[in-house]
Amino acid sequence: MSETYRVAILGATGAVGTELLALLESRQFPLSELKLLSSPRSAGQQLQFKGASLVVEAVTAASFEGIDIVLASAGGSTSKQWAAAIAAAGAVMVDNSSAFRLDPAVPLVVPEVNPEAAQHHQGVIANPNCTTILMCLPLWPLHQVQPIRRLIVSTYQSASGAGARAMEELRTQSQAILDGKEPQAEILPHPIAFNLFPHNSAWNDQGYCEEEMKMVHETRKILGTDDIRISATCVRVPVLRAHSEAINIEFDRPFPLEKARELIAQTPGVKLVEDWKASYFPMPMDASGKDETLVGRIRKICRVKITWSCGSVAIRSARGQRSTPCRSRNCSWSASGSNPSARRLEQAQAPHRPNGSPSDMTCDNPCNNPL
Ligand SMILES: NC(=O)c1ccc[n+]([C@@H]2O[C@H](COP(=O)([O-])OP(=O)(O)OC[C@H]3O[C@@H](n4cnc5c(N)ncnc54)[C@H](OP(=O)(O)O)[C@@H]3O)[C@@H](O)[C@H]2O)c1
Repeated sequence: MSETYRVAILGATGAVGTELLALLESRQFPLSELKLLSSPRSAGQQLQFKGASLVVEAVTAASFEGIDIVLASAGGSTSKQWAAAIAAAGAVMVDNSSAFRLDPAVPLVVPEVNPEAAQHHQGVIANPNCTTILMCLPLWPLHQVQPIRRLIVSTYQSASGAGARAMEELRTQSQAILDGKEPQAEILPHPIAFNLFPHNSAWNDQGYCEEEMKMVHETRKILGTDDIRISATCVRVPVLRAHSEAINIEFDRPFPLEKARELIAQTPGVKLVEDWKASYFPMPMDASGKDETLVGRIRKICRVKITWSCGSVAIRSARGQRSTPCRSRNCSWSASGSNPSARRLEQAQAPHRPNGSPSDMTCDNPCNNPL
């Protein structure tokens, strides 16, 4: 007889909660009970599951009695508030918030990367920040073959990452602007429609926001090393769903581009999307609602043979694509269409490749800018 689980979704009415509900259904998760929890605001609301209406309940300590697994996606303070009650009920909390991610006693798990870490949980298993998951998926197979020395990542984050109300704000602001009206920003700090701005999280003294530092610390914890130098720039863009990232990777030693492409293509949960002739690469629209992380536009960068850049990702409601900023020991520039050297290199190389993709050849340093 197959094992079944009694599951509660804490934050069931949110952007993540509704995706979790859909996944439990589409993947036919073996459930013997499903409880939907929220704040008192949404209590009484009905959500559809397998053709039936389930009523959302306001969370209380008694909500977790008899539950095996709590999928928590109601924010860090709510996870912290209910952690003791969940533990007392004997349930395991799989937490989507940042509350416990960097706690040394809590495994931070990307199933395709470090599933074994989950075995050592003490009641809480943390799920990383969405931008970190996207980055770690294609990095992991490469890092195992050739240690990564340095990462420079820029993100293009959709409204979905800020929750269901931010997605609604993007819709209403877009309509307002198209109607010639002033867009009203209530959830995000600035109008997101037809606009972009740095990620809406707190700044530190060095000028990095919380989201950027999450990428730094969480990536190191998941990959199991503090030796990787990481710099992140996180930006909100007017995309409804699916984050994108441009990642520049520097390895300890030269890494053949075709080998990297081959490894990424074989990675579970990752799909290589690269058609250089058709100029078709990962896009949020293609990533949205899909499970795979899309990766593409992989190429070497400027003179330094051990550095190359790849791009693009997607995982339900928060995955995306990378174009590609370029950085090496000698240069730093954006290659996502604005750099003539990069375009010339791609054009020159394209006819010589079976699929028009760039080869391992290096390009000129356009700025002679020692770092
Ligand atoms: N969105 C993403 O792509 C994403 C990705 C990874 C991780 N996360 C994390 O997941 C969490 C939820 O994000 P989200 O985007 O789904 O947010 P959201 O759309 O704003 O939804 C928040 C959910 O939490 C519930 N909630 C809020 N305060 C509560 C409280 N005091 N007690 C009980 N329930 C409460 C809300 O219930 P009501 O309907 O009653 O308000 C709603 O169901 C956050 O920690 C976020 O950082 C989000």
